[in-house]
Amino acid sequence: MSFLTLEAIDKTFPGPRGGAPVCALNQLSLTVEEGEYVSLLGRSGCGKSTLLAIVAGLEKPDRGQIRCRGQVVAGPERHRLLMFQDAALFPWLDVLANVLYGLNLVENLTNAERLSRAEKFLEMVGLADCRRFRVHQLSGGMRQRVALARALAPDPDLLLMDEPFSALDALTREQLYADLQRIWTETKKTILMVTHNVREAVCLGSRVVILASPGQVVADERVTLPYPRTLNDLKLTAVAAHISCFLQTEVEP
Ligand SMILES: Nc1ncnc2c1ncn2[C@@H]1O[C@H](COP(=O)(O)OP(=O)(O)OP(=O)(O)O)[C@@H](O)[C@H]1O
Ligand SMILES: [Mg+2]
Repeated sequence: MSFLTLEAIDKTFPGPRGGAPVCALNQLSLTVEEGEYVSLLGRSGCGKSTLLAIVAGLEKPDRGQIRCRGQVVAGPERHRLLMFQDAALFPWLDVLANVLYGLNLVENLTNAERLSRAEKFLEMVGLADCRRFRVHQLSGGMRQRVALARALAPDPDLLLMDEPFSALDALTREQLYADLQRIWTETKKTILMVTHNVREAVCLGSRVVILASPGQVVADERVTLPYPRTLNDLKLTAVAAHISCFLQTEVEP
């Protein structure tokens, strides 16, 4: 049994201003094994965020079924957490309190356990010294690190990330790629990440899945390059070029 199974998922939204309905996902099927890092690529509007929202339990499919660890996904749960493009932190809380907030989802923890868990994950993302900073004192990269610590602290089985690095500059992104690879190797989390950046997809993903509109899987490639990976590695560049061809040719409407 696979860790995550999506079976023939259909999702249609009402059209804007009473127009024709928009088909976001069409008979989409996908399986993800435990511990995989799946990068999801595809043109704007092809249904990537819809797919994540459905896996997170925030949207319901019209047809089809999603199972995580064999259980039908019926709504949001702390075992499947979604992290957004903008860190979506609470500006009135400091860094530590933002991470502690994520831990409110976990029952049966003492306050001391919550605190030590929050500190452990702040350490993991390299922000232990910034625990008392407010959100406005953080750079974009630091905010995403806090969001990552907040998402990891409740120990989700599955971490869903929607373009988590797209608002960051190239150097900050590269640093986060290195950190995320280390964190993924340490925590062995299953990750499903949407990105528009092919090299980012290949740098991080153990697998790259390409969606085409309306929401169908058109390519599914395993990336066997050893970790840690760096963006400028020639082999990585070659794999990214191969995958870009897929995006440009096979997905062309
Ligand atoms: N809540 C919604 N209500 C109406 N239409 C929606 C809703 N969510 C998504 N859609 C439509 O479904 C289609 C797929 O949207 P989705 O956001 O999943 O695409 P995407 O692949 O994430 O795009 P992008 O790369 O631009 O983020 C789009 O046509 C979008 O307008
Ligand atoms: Mg999107």
